[in-house]
Amino acid sequence: MARPKIALIGGGQIGGVLAQLAALRELGDVVLFDIVEGMPQGKCLDIAEAAPVDGFDVSLKGANDYKDIAGANVVIVTAGLPRKPGMSRDDLIEVNSKIMRSVAEGIRDNAPDAFVIVISNPLDAMVTLCQKVTGFPAERVIGQAGVLDSARFQAFIAWELGVSVKDVNAMTLGGHGDDMVPLVRYASVNGIPVMELLEQKYGSAAKAKEVMEAMVKRTRGAGGEVVALLKTGSAFYSPASSAIAMAESILKDQKRVLPTCALLNGEFGVKGYYVGVPCVLGANGVEKILEFKLDAEEQAMMDKSVAAVKGLVDSLNL
Ligand code: APR
Repeated sequence: MARPKIALIGGGQIGGVLAQLAALRELGDVVLFDIVEGMPQGKCLDIAEAAPVDGFDVSLKGANDYKDIAGANVVIVTAGLPRKPGMSRDDLIEVNSKIMRSVAEGIRDNAPDAFVIVISNPLDAMVTLCQKVTGFPAERVIGQAGVLDSARFQAFIAWELGVSVKDVNAMTLGGHGDDMVPLVRYASVNGIPVMELLEQKYGSAAKAKEVMEAMVKRTRGAGGEVVALLKTGSAFYSPASSAIAMAESILKDQKRVLPTCALLNGEFGVKGYYVGVPCVLGANGVEKILEFKLDAEEQAMMDKSVAAVKGLVDSLNL
């Protein structure tokens, strides 16, 4: 049986790590596409030459022609500019929407059956544009943001409590912007509420609240924190890992529940917009959106985040 095929559009920082992770995990054969000639070919050759050391049996091909993505089962899009220090993700909309239009046409015309995972920013707007231009069913076009935002939140909690990241469960909802919604109420260490553990640690509910608020703030600004340190470019290891988890869940029909930027049809009070929510990802893409009750404070935060997404998406006049 043929191996699955994974096409990566954009061979920059994230694209390169995606190619390496897909190979290391033997998710399938990899095509790395970029408009820059030679660069994706060079990266693929470099990764392929590590195969005897790492022991993976997949093929890797660099490409500058969309024909090479034909037959892809999953396409992950990172084409577009990353932000510079001081920029918000939204500042990228003009330049990246032009790029996204051409990328989506390339996918539509060459890999019409693919599942598409968008990483390019501003994420919620770019995934909306990608779905509109490809015309693919919404369950096949999704965005990666929530897995990473949640991972950042989980990492901060684990570091604060001195426990393994493996035992922390926490999730963010909403758009991939400064108004994202880290869900404090459901954050737990193997089911034990994080707020309870913070209260034990600090001996006061007020201090626990203060510490959690700081973690929520850091989560919202975590992408910017990396940008400020890197000075050129934005985070690339963690976005790649996050998108690979989504691709793997689809390719292996794992049905993992992953926060995903998905098109909503009334869930959480949102209709017709892409927003981050927990989804079951399996062989059919978004197989289910898991809706649950938000309390008044959470719903208000969600509404604010969705309003920001709407403002940006509406500016595209799709
Ligand atoms: N088609 C294909 N690739 C393109 C196009 C295009 N029209 N235009 C630009 N690219 C490529 C660039 O040549 C570059 O190699 O996209 C790649 C982007 O790589 P980086 O600049 O290294 O950016 P990266 O860090 O990978 O981030 C990509 O993901 O998280 C978001 O905000 C981030 O929008 C950015 C995207």
